[in-house]
Amino acid sequence: MKLFTVGPVACYPEVLEVMKHQMFSHRSEEYKKLHLETVELLKEFLETENEIFLFPSSGTGVMEASVRNCVKRKMLVCVCGSFGERYVEVGRTNGKEVEVLRTDLGEPITPDILDEKLAKCRDVEAVAITHNETSVGLINPLKELAEIVKKHGKLLFVDAVSSMGGVDIKVDEWGIDICFSSSQKCFGIPPGLAVGSVSREALKKAEEVENRGWYFDFKLFEKYQRRAGTPTTPPIPQIFGLNKILHLIEEWGGKYRYFQLYAERNRKIRMGIEKLGLNLFPKRGYESPTVSCVKAPKNIGGEEIYEKMRSKGFELAKGYGPLKTSTFRIGNMGYIEFKDIDEMLEALETVLAELKEN
Ligand SMILES: Cc1ncc(COP(=O)(O)O)c(C=O)c1O
Repeated sequence: MKLFTVGPVACYPEVLEVMKHQMFSHRSEEYKKLHLETVELLKEFLETENEIFLFPSSGTGVMEASVRNCVKRKMLVCVCGSFGERYVEVGRTNGKEVEVLRTDLGEPITPDILDEKLAKCRDVEAVAITHNETSVGLINPLKELAEIVKKHGKLLFVDAVSSMGGVDIKVDEWGIDICFSSSQKCFGIPPGLAVGSVSREALKKAEEVENRGWYFDFKLFEKYQRRAGTPTTPPIPQIFGLNKILHLIEEWGGKYRYFQLYAERNRKIRMGIEKLGLNLFPKRGYESPTVSCVKAPKNIGGEEIYEKMRSKGFELAKGYGPLKTSTFRIGNMGYIEFKDIDEMLEALETVLAELKEN
C-alpha cells in the first residue's frame, strides 16, 4: 500500500533501519549521547535556545502539558478546525477557563481578528494556535499571528503537529513559548514520540502553577534534561529515528531543501487535483503545504473515494469531523517518491471515472 496519509505516514527506509538498534538503559552513557545530540539537532532545526523536551506520548500529550503547566486560570484558543476544538476540550477538561476565537471552516485565523479578540479579553494568560489545521488542510499565518500575541504580552502555544519538519518555524525569532509536534507526521518516524520546545518564560510560569501533575511536569523534565535524560522511559527507537532524519535532512542539503521538497510534492498533488476538475477546501492562499483537503465531487462521498483508492493500493485520508463525507485528504508527509504521486493521481482519475459511472 502506498501511503498518502496524514499520520502515521510512510517512514524513510534509513529511519526504519536505525530503529532496529539493540536497546540500552535510558540512564546509560549511550542514551545520554543520543539524547543530547538529538536535542541539539532539533534546536538548530527550530532555531531556538529554548529547552527541547522529548515526551513519551503523541502530540496531544504536549497539548495537555501546555495547559497543565502554563495556565493558571484562563487561556484563549484559536479554532479553525477539529484540532483547535481539541485544544478547547483539553483546556476545559483540565479545569481552565477557555475563551475561543473560531472561524468558519476553511477560513484562517488572521492577525486582525486575533488582535481584536485579544483587545477584548485581556485577562487570558496564553494563546493557543494550530499552525497547520490538518482536518481542513489549512495553514495559518503563524509569524504574523505570533507578532500579535507578543504585542499583547501573552504566552504563545503552537500546535505544530502537522507542520514541524514540513515548513519553517523560527521559534525564537517569532517568540513561540511552546511549540510541539509528533514523530508520525513530517519527520516520517513511527508514532510514539512527541517533541516540544519550552521557553524560559513558560518554565517561569510553570513554577507559579499548582497541580501540574507528574507525568508531563515541565519542571521535572527540566531537572532530568540537566542529566541528559527524561523523567520516565523514553521511546528510544523513535529517538534514534528522529536523530537519523535530522542528520539525513542535513545530508540532503539542509532544512530549506527539505521544505522545498515538501512544497514540490504538494504542488504536484495540487496541480493534479485541479487537472481532474477538483477543488481544495480551504480559502485560497492558506492551503496547507503538508496535506491537501479536497472537496469531493457532487454526488460522490469522500469516503467512497477513500475506499476505492485503497482497493487500488493507495491509502489517502478520509475527511475529518464535519467534513467526513464532503471531502477527502491527501497527505504529502514522510517518505513519498514523485513517481508515487503520478501513480496515485492516475488511480484517482480512474476511481473518479468509475464512481461517476455508477
Ligand atoms: C494539527 C494536529 N494537532 C494535534 C494532533 C494530534 O496529534 P497526536 O495524534 O500525535 O496526539 C493532530 C493529529 O493528526 C494534528 O494533525
